Amino acid sequence: MAPKHRKNPCRAFPLFAFVLQLLVFLSAAETNDDGEYVSGVGDPGMRRDGLRLAIESWNQCNEVGEEVPQMGSPRAADCFDIYKASAPPAKESDCSLCKSLPYVLVHRVTDKDNKLGVGEPFLGVQPKALSNADLYAAEKELYLGSKCQVEDTPNPWQFWMIMLKSGNMDTFAGKCPKNGHKVGPFGPDKGFPCFGKGCMNQPRIYHDYTTLQGTNRTTLTGRFYGSWDLDADLSKGMVGNISYHSVTWKKEVGKGSWVFHHVLRTSTKYPWLMLYFRSDATFGHSGGYHYPTRGMSKIIPESPNFRVRFTLNVIKGGGPNSQFYLMDMGSCWKNNGQPCDGDVTSDVTRYSEMVINPNTSAWCNAGNFKLCPPYHTFPNGTRVHRTDAARFPYAAYHLYCSPGNAELLEVPFSLCDPYSNPQPQEILQILPHPVWGEYGYPTKQGEGWIGDPRTWDLDVGRLSQSLYFYQDPGTPPAKRQWMSIDLGTEIFKDPDQVAEWTVSDFDILVPKQSRH
Ligand SMILES: *[C@@H]1O[C@H](CO)[C@@H](O)[C@H](O)[C@H]1NC(C)=O
Ligand SMILES: *[C@@H]1O[C@H](CO)[C@@H](O)[C@H](O)[C@H]1NC(C)=O
Ligand SMILES: *[C@@H]1O[C@H](CO)[C@@H](O)[C@H](O)[C@H]1NC(C)=O
Ligand SMILES: *[C@@H]1O[C@H](CO)[C@@H](O)[C@H](O)[C@H]1NC(C)=O
Repeated sequence: MAPKHRKNPCRAFPLFAFVLQLLVFLSAAETNDDGEYVSGVGDPGMRRDGLRLAIESWNQCNEVGEEVPQMGSPRAADCFDIYKASAPPAKESDCSLCKSLPYVLVHRVTDKDNKLGVGEPFLGVQPKALSNADLYAAEKELYLGSKCQVEDTPNPWQFWMIMLKSGNMDTFAGKCPKNGHKVGPFGPDKGFPCFGKGCMNQPRIYHDYTTLQGTNRTTLTGRFYGSWDLDADLSKGMVGNISYHSVTWKKEVGKGSWVFHHVLRTSTKYPWLMLYFRSDATFGHSGGYHYPTRGMSKIIPESPNFRVRFTLNVIKGGGPNSQFYLMDMGSCWKNNGQPCDGDVTSDVTRYSEMVINPNTSAWCNAGNFKLCPPYHTFPNGTRVHRTDAARFPYAAYHLYCSPGNAELLEVPFSLCDPYSNPQPQEILQILPHPVWGEYGYPTKQGEGWIGDPRTWDLDVGRLSQSLYFYQDPGTPPAKRQWMSIDLGTEIFKDPDQVAEWTVSDFDILVPKQSRH
């Protein structure tokens, strides 16, 4: 049974005879105290009342595959402007409604837009996308972006992005390419969960549009939620043995930050699920996605010069296999250091994450250094090789895996999963450790975890510059530009687990001179 969900509330206001006045928003490009840095995101610190938010869902290889009937393409947005009614004319001074409704929200994305599904045309859609659920979703994202876009310098921006992903893979369906090359059916492969035909389905996504709540109607709140279990009855909430995703957002008009409250639950049929809150590129491709994207990062942060600030409150961890990412960054460059160009066989997605779940241990160790990067670089520039057991900080690394198309890897090595991205990927996962303290990261397991909410100010730029990533020997170093900066968790093959957390105050600070 489908739960009740609010329709676009703008249709519920027949009051537009009033003259509406646009509220003055906070300045979008906020300079910090020393004047050296500016915000690289459209909504610095999540303080803008007029929210810009979208949701997307990916299958194991970052595509749609098939849409869920009646759900449309798994892209939706909640973007609105907030207005204040002007003083009513004198003869209507008893207009009680004006007092009880001081603010009015005008939604930019209708229910019809959000429900658009493959085959249904919209402004700007390419003909070939109409019959292809993968291309359709990518173009729907651009369309929603056009409705949400905010003009700004140096670039317009569109929305924060909630990302859902299921790790289920039907190897017999041959849907996911291997390191970017199409492959036929294979299996069985115990590495990938799948309960049978249809296991790669998209989730149901329900939407409560943002409305004004509270006695004074000054609390803005809304929600996206749903389940991958298509037969789940969500009318009573997250009850029973079902997968679940939910992001609720809330803010007092004119005060503080938005607070995004996340819940993710795995089930027997969907034991490997991801829920991230992302600041993606506003144009070009974002991390892990081989289609043009829309997002919040109007300036793409580049190593070594940027910082990321946010408040994170982990309420439930998601079990021992929840790889909770304090910071997850995604980029793309070729093994010869050149920028990616959309060729999925030579583009390589590069990820780095700090996993803050204290249950996550270092798989990299002196006895098994194939899961360690070849070397570690200290803040002073000193490099130590992984064979240098006396000096290499093994405990600082959960795992390192190499791109499947790298030709000159140092042995021993471990290749990354060749299926879970449209292109080959490289992953470096770090753990809280004193070697990262210099960059403001946690230095001890448990920091920032349950019961220890914190506001972080991370020198992600310098840290990401120091990390090892593969390049062919002798090639000029890639520009490390991070098209996706996100927070969230990946519950890895562990049914019946619940993670819950809030994110607020998010900002990315970039040097002022990079604004051009
Ligand atoms: C509602 O507004 C009144 C008058 O301004 C104020 O005293 C009260 O605290 C407000 N209530 C809430 C829940 O914000
Ligand atoms: C969920 O279902 C699975 C199999 O159907 C079962 O093994 C597990 O115990 C159930 N968990 C709960 C909390 O009911
Ligand atoms: C996970 O960590 C918690 C807290 O440190 C501990 O109590 C629990 O035993 C750990 N579980 C596993 C499976 O390691
Ligand atoms: C650099 O830092 C490392 C780790 O703290 C230390 O062992 C090494 O001596 C330092 N090198 C120099 C040249 O200061």
